[in-house]
Amino acid sequence: MASCRPFAAVVALLLCACSGGGGVVVDPSRPETAPDIAEGRRLFLATCAGCHGARGDGSGEAAEGLFPPPRNLTRGEFRFRSTASGTLPTRADLQRSIALGLPGSAMPGWREQLSENQIASLVLFLETLSPRFAEEQRLPEDVLLPADISPVAATPALITQGKALYVKMGCGECHGAEGRGDGKAAAEAKNSDGTHSHVFDFTYGIYKGGSSPIDVYRTFVTGLDGAPMPSFDQSLPGEQDRWALVAYVLSLGRSRGVAFYLSERPTWREPMTDPAPYTPKLGAAAPARPATGSPAETPAAEGW
Ligand code: HEC
Ligand code: HEC
Repeated sequence: MASCRPFAAVVALLLCACSGGGGVVVDPSRPETAPDIAEGRRLFLATCAGCHGARGDGSGEAAEGLFPPPRNLTRGEFRFRSTASGTLPTRADLQRSIALGLPGSAMPGWREQLSENQIASLVLFLETLSPRFAEEQRLPEDVLLPADISPVAATPALITQGKALYVKMGCGECHGAEGRGDGKAAAEAKNSDGTHSHVFDFTYGIYKGGSSPIDVYRTFVTGLDGAPMPSFDQSLPGEQDRWALVAYVLSLGRSRGVAFYLSERPTWREPMTDPAPYTPKLGAAAPARPATGSPAETPAAEGW
């Protein structure tokens, strides 16, 4: 790969990610191991470093020309979390991002190539890339999505209510009056690392954080750390209001018509409602951290 030009490297990586198995990632002769940092490191270097860099700082060979660029994982700042703004993601959050990818960006989903244990190993390794995981406590009360969360079904009345809230909450300042990502603040929007932030276009209908109602609820309730997208947890406390806003923004995704949808990869539109299959492995099997200045292990019972 050292001799590949960046574009060729990206294509190779994406082909590998989309080919539905048989790539270089999983060696079937390797026995399945319990989640483990060393295994996570091995997998990271084999599958992720091409984009994220061997140190996880986003400087992989294929990073050049990618927009948005691969995340600098050493900052410990994650967009797609079920936890309060400014706090660390749960392990299940990281597992979900790795397993399902961030549709519409270059970040592929790995659940076809990697087993649950391998994804869990990668999560353990990711936690060594940023000091935040050693320095900060992850608290159950930071998780803003109740376990028994259940969406309110979209009706025309709920969508109308959501449209009014979209205006009232100022979503259009960034996302634009019609949700096309062209609000007044969009041109100047900056990420915390100083790079330009591309404000999401709701009519595109493909969400990095997942496009099921629960995914969209999670995104605007917790906010996207590192991006200008704020958390609306405090400013929009009513459950009914939250689901109204979800129903409205999802309704905008239909405005480009069926042909647009049919032209997109089907897996990108799959509703991804159930991160549960990725949750238990780490909770039960997370090994103790290595002794090098690490804090006490997060309690397994919390299912982090
Ligand atoms: C083809 C390039 C590419 C490869 C390979 C890749 N990533 Fe990414 N990854 C990205 C990009 C680009 C982003 C940022 C996308 C965005 O913000 O829109 C990203 C974002 C992420 C995030 C941030 C999620 C968040 O909540 O902010 C994590 C975690 C991540 N990648 C982990 C991995 C792991 C683990 C692997 C290997 C199994 C991997 N990536 C392989 C390109 C890649
Ligand atoms: C200050 C600007 C700003 C405001 C106000 C704002 N957003 Fe965002 N939003 C963004 C940006 C920028 C992104 C894209 C971030 C990224 O992908 O890195 C985004 C992304 C999103 C996404 C995620 C799309 C995905 O890819 O998963 C959703 C959902 C969303 N916004 C909903 C809302 C809603 C609902 C409101 C109003 C309650 C709102 N936003 C207000 C800037 C804003």
